[in-house]
Amino acid sequence: TDSIDRALESLRTGEPVLVHDAADREGETDLIYHADAVTPEAVSRLRNDAGGLICVALAHEIAEAFDLPFYTEEVDHPASGGHDLGYDERSSFSLTVNHRDTYTGITDNDRSLTIRSLGEAAATPEETTFSEQFRVPGHVHLLKAAPDLLAQREGHTELGIALADAADLSPAVVVCEMLDDETGEALSPVDARAYAERHDFAYLEGKDVLERLG
Ligand code: 5RP
Ligand code: CA
Ligand code: ZN
Ligand code: ZN
Repeated sequence: TDSIDRALESLRTGEPVLVHDAADREGETDLIYHADAVTPEAVSRLRNDAGGLICVALAHEIAEAFDLPFYTEEVDHPASGGHDLGYDERSSFSLTVNHRDTYTGITDNDRSLTIRSLGEAAATPEETTFSEQFRVPGHVHLLKAAPDLLAQREGHTELGIALADAADLSPAVVVCEMLDDETGEALSPVDARAYAERHDFAYLEGKDVLERLG
């Protein structure tokens, strides 16, 4: 089995996978789990081993079903918008959320509840009244995938959702950038691959995902 098949199997069994987008894009490797699989231990790994921003990516149509906008479309402030992202045409950020049964929202238990519940909601959107389950703002950043997914945008948001689709899982994944504790920069692909090998996690290059699933 090739590395994509192995990554799909990892997502199905609740293991994380690493995905490096591209040297000429962010040049970042995100640690990614399917949202259903997230436990407090997984949140701990995301914040300790990855260290970036913990976000949940949702398929475009799921975000639409829950009335979740792109952040830039809703916030009428002079700092919102403008087309000056260095690596893409636009950000995929939507709102931030907490599950209503959380207290502060930031603990490993709280974030794990929020993330897992987002996974369940994405599996059964027609049975979910989003505002009954979640409050805004919160401590989990939502990302909204492009409508035509990888045909439109090649971010971790779309790469993660394409992998969930290919694994026959609901379209909700948690992503977090791997940062280098020594330099504070994005963890290099060489070091990200070494981390993956050390933990026996799958590592993928964005271009390999695009070739198979794009
Ligand atoms: C949010 C981000 C991450 O890079 C995340 O991977 C989502 O962004 P993108 O889809 O642009 O890669 O900036 O922490
Ligand atoms: Ca760390
Ligand atoms: Zn990214
Ligand atoms: Zn990023």
